Formats: sequence, C-alpha cells, structure tokens
Amino acid sequence: MASILYHTETTSPDQTADLAVSIGQVLKAGDCLLLVGSVGAGKSLFARALIQSLQDTPEDVPSPTFTIVQTYETKLGDLWHCDLYRISSPHEVIELGLDDAMATAVTLIEWPKNLADLTPPDALTIRINDLGGDVRKLSFESTDADWAASLEKVFENAV
Ligand SMILES: Nc1ncnc2c1ncn2[C@@H]1O[C@H](COP(=O)(O)OP(=O)(O)O)[C@@H](O)[C@H]1O
Ligand SMILES: [Mg+2]
Repeated sequence: MASILYHTETTSPDQTADLAVSIGQVLKAGDCLLLVGSVGAGKSLFARALIQSLQDTPEDVPSPTFTIVQTYETKLGDLWHCDLYRISSPHEVIELGLDDAMATAVTLIEWPKNLADLTPPDALTIRINDLGGDVRKLSFESTDADWAASLEKVFENAV
C-alpha cells in the first residue's frame, strides 16, 4: 500500500501550476508520476505546467485524451504525457512502448489504473480531489523512500 507522504490544498489553477513546477525541479529521467482524479480535477493542467517548466522554449501541451501519448523533449530528456482512459489492456501499454518509456523517460500518466500490473512500484501517485469551486486537495503517495526525500525539498521551500 502506498502511503500519503504529503498533502496540500490549492485555491487556484495558478497555485496548482506552481506546485507542478516545484515537483518538476526534483524529477529525474525514469521517474513516473501517476495523476489520479476525476474529469476536470486538474491532471492535465498539472502536467502542462510541469512539462513547460522543463523546456527552454515552452511548447503547447494539449491534453492527450485523443492521442493517448504526447512526447516532449525536455531538460531531463524524453518526457511522455499519457492519458490511458481509453486503454483496455496492458497489451496496448506495451504496444505503445510505454513500459520501456517508464524505465527511461519521465512519464506523466493520467488514468493510470489501466496500467494494472505494469504500474511501476516506485511511481509517485498524485491524487487530485476537486473540493468545489477552485479548491483542490493534492495528495502525494508512494511506497518509495526516495520520493519522501525529494518531496521534502518541495514542501519545505514552496508550500
Ligand atoms: N485549484 C485548481 N487547480 C487546478 N485546476 C483548477 C483549479 N481550480 C480550477 N481549476 C480548473 O479545473 C480545470 C482542470 O482541467 P484539466 O486539467 O483539463 O482536468 P483533468 O485533466 O483532470 O480532466 C481547468 O479548467 C482549471 O482552470
Ligand atoms: Mg486530462
């Protein structure tokens, strides 16, 4: 069971974006973030802010709802932004090459439930709960001790 390492509330899209930028500062190649939350929670907004903060010239970051995978070149190397809502079997995950990417690239994955057994055990789950209006609760959960150390840096300085 993953335990909650940190949680916080944001009261605006900009605050969530700022938090995403801070998380981006502690990432390295091979890190996998699982973005969990209902439609409109802010998963894509979080991913967009994070991705753009890792680029010298920020690109457009469309929601991957229809393409399933969008890839980016970033300061940390390849980054994959995925939306697995329409994936129905782990076979498709392998066909996409996402299992390899999760080991080598930075991966940001919306609707990660559909990874099933392919979920990396050392991933960081970011759960976003829409508390109404512009208020969101974000929980950061992992079984991996390295994330506890990385997030300590983020929450000491930024939140
Ligand atoms: N505190 C907040 N954090 C993130 N998004 C927020 C917040 N308050 C309002 N929003 C709005 O919620 C929406 C989130 O959309 P999106 O990121 O596409 O959701 P998802 O990818 O989870 O379906 C955006 O329109 C954003 O402006
Ligand atoms: Mg989305």
